[in-house]
Amino acid sequence: MVLWAVGCILLALLTWWFWQPQAPPGRATDGKRQPRRRGPAEEEHKAAGVPLGEERGSPVGGCRLICKPSALAQALVKSFCRSAHLETKRWSWKRWPNLQTAVQLLWPPDRPLEFSRDHLQMADEGIVALDWVSGPVDGGRKGTDAVVLLVVPNATGAISRNVQQLCRLALRQGYHPVIFNRRGHNGCPLTTPRLQPFGDPDDLKEAVAYIRFRHPTRTLFAASEGSGSGLLLSYLGECGSSSYLCGAACISPILKAQDWFEADLPWLYEWSLLLPQKRNVSRYTEALEKVVEMDRVLGSSSLRAFEAALFCPQRRQKMSWETYWASNDPLRDVDEVAVPVLCLCSADDPVRGAPEDTIPWELFQSNPFFFLLLSPHGGHCGFLGKDPKGSWGNAVVLEYLQTLAEFLRGEERVKDKPRRRTATAQHRCGRRRGPLRNRGAALPGLDLFSWQRSYTR
Ligand SMILES: *[C@@H]1O[C@H](CO)[C@@H](O)[C@H](O)[C@H]1NC(C)=O
Ligand SMILES: *[C@@H]1O[C@H](CO)[C@@H](O)[C@H](O)[C@H]1NC(C)=O
Repeated sequence: MVLWAVGCILLALLTWWFWQPQAPPGRATDGKRQPRRRGPAEEEHKAAGVPLGEERGSPVGGCRLICKPSALAQALVKSFCRSAHLETKRWSWKRWPNLQTAVQLLWPPDRPLEFSRDHLQMADEGIVALDWVSGPVDGGRKGTDAVVLLVVPNATGAISRNVQQLCRLALRQGYHPVIFNRRGHNGCPLTTPRLQPFGDPDDLKEAVAYIRFRHPTRTLFAASEGSGSGLLLSYLGECGSSSYLCGAACISPILKAQDWFEADLPWLYEWSLLLPQKRNVSRYTEALEKVVEMDRVLGSSSLRAFEAALFCPQRRQKMSWETYWASNDPLRDVDEVAVPVLCLCSADDPVRGAPEDTIPWELFQSNPFFFLLLSPHGGHCGFLGKDPKGSWGNAVVLEYLQTLAEFLRGEERVKDKPRRRTATAQHRCGRRRGPLRNRGAALPGLDLFSWQRSYTR
């Protein structure tokens, strides 16, 4: 009887939580500050998704595109303005950010993906897996020369409903999606006592090199979900112009990652993120015991404590939290990024927190490779429109890649006219011919550099 009552109360609480219409209170950067009170003008701005005192950007549908003016930015504004997905009246779930988040992250996917898996052995004998998605195909087309879309799931490595929908939509539009699975994630075996830290791109580098080896002539784009942006942006920063990618998109990225771990999430999110990770890691207790204190990992009561226990060892070699972030912050090498990156963020993202504190505005205002598409609604990786079977966020990301591909082709034609193809032409999108060159040889020549800068003018 008592159990029933407790159960009912819990259920009521949960329902109330997910249905509460307003945006969550601001999470402060230092994790201690109380949510700020807002005046009416501020509320109005916030409703429009524009934080007070920040760059307003260009309106595109119900969203704003915030970036440095450039030829590519113009092309994107034009394309987004034509996009039906960005019209707010089509978003029937806009008042429920928590519900959108829960549906896309926690609700079971409709149909499992069909894929073939490649296991790759890394230099240190650890194993990662690439899942080449091939179905379910609902009326799709796939050329033999399809553009490859590398999908990086969020940092917990689980394949969410959102990732599945992205893969299926991409497949239908003629892409060849491939999902990157980190060590020990999503059924990939853990063969060395090492999991992948938040922003360590070494494994992803080897995986991309392998994709290039298998498909040397295909264009490669990448998209990440939620905290998976930490890995993708670290990769783009570390590899700079030899990343082999032609463009990337991050859906609801966690850009200020250290702050995110340090601030407290609403308890329900904190625990629903923490518990599944603990459960999965506990399977490797014996294997990991040699290098990490598993008691501390499994006893941790916050995401920060969990991350610290897992990746900042305190036994033989000690590592501090600050040192960990010095080599894992996704934005540590952001000035090196040399391909266009679209970040699709929602102002009411309950996992990331209030936009004023959690979005690095200056990055989008000063770096010509970064584009912020800020939506007033959408939750975390939610972006549900009329049809809960698909997020408009995914559709917009694919539209962006399409526009980018067209733009790059246009640039290439202009560039190709006056002179003959040089060696650097091999690096251009979709035109890469000839044998795969090793990374040393792939370092950018001056020529390539000027080409890559040309569309940020
Ligand atoms: C990552 O995705 C999984 C599966 O959908 C979800 O349960 C988890 O909450 C997500 N984690 C974050 C940090 O978004
Ligand atoms: C955790 O384990 C469950 C069940 O075995 C699995 O479905 C899920 O994908 C795992 N999550 C990760 C991150 O590997």
